[in-house]
Amino acid sequence: MPDTAYENYLHAEKILSYQKSEDELICDGERDFQGVQQESEFIWTRINLLLKRTGTCIEGEDLSGATRLLEQAAALWSSLTAKVEELLWRLWPNDFQKIRKTIGSGSTSDSPRYRESERLAKSLWGPFTAQLEKSTVTLKQLLGTEGHDDLRALLKAMMWYDYRVQEFAIAHIYLVLGKIGDRTVGLKGGTTDYLVKRQGNFLFPPLWDSINELYQ
Ligand code: HEM
Repeated sequence: MPDTAYENYLHAEKILSYQKSEDELICDGERDFQGVQQESEFIWTRINLLLKRTGTCIEGEDLSGATRLLEQAAALWSSLTAKVEELLWRLWPNDFQKIRKTIGSGSTSDSPRYRESERLAKSLWGPFTAQLEKSTVTLKQLLGTEGHDDLRALLKAMMWYDYRVQEFAIAHIYLVLGKIGDRTVGLKGGTTDYLVKRQGNFLFPPLWDSINELYQ
């Protein structure tokens, strides 16, 4: 039994039991690698809750509430980016090669929490455009005119959220380059080519495209 209410509330013993013990570690960097992956799963659950609440706010026409929540979710992606950068700094390629032999075909691209974050973010587009229609304003008009402050703030937050996710993807590509190179096939059969293409997949493509429209 945990000694303190603090540990009890956190299920600290249980959580920490999922970490490899110091004796079991292949190298010290494995503590960082496994730790970052585990922490990321927790962070994705927080992002996903924020995204769900954002959707509810947009549907309930609380646009400033939605903006605030989406900005918070974007900030969490920055913390994931920082973790990826930490690994680039901490983990020695040769150590990762040893770790990799023990993780089988496990790849983060199979993380249901990560996939859910993609699905939830993309699902915001429908309710957002419904709000545009309700206010009888197009995306191009929103970009080009004054007014509709709540919608404009939300649009900015969506762009910011998308940017933070793309920023994570870019940091991740450099992590891959720094650990396995650009020609080694990943655990799901992809190389950096796949990741570079994937990186161009915006969550809200019409939003980014609308900037072109503005200049036409
Ligand atoms: C040394 C460390 C890492 C290497 C070498 C690496 C390598 C790769 C590679 C090659 C892929 C493409 C799919 C595959 O073949 O597996 C991938 C996907 C992915 N990785 Fe990593 N990764 C590393 C660490 C991380 C970390 C720490 C995170 C999260 C914080 C992460 C998140 C992801 C995600 C989310 C995908 C799926 C991307 C998508 O399909 O949209 N990776 N990784």
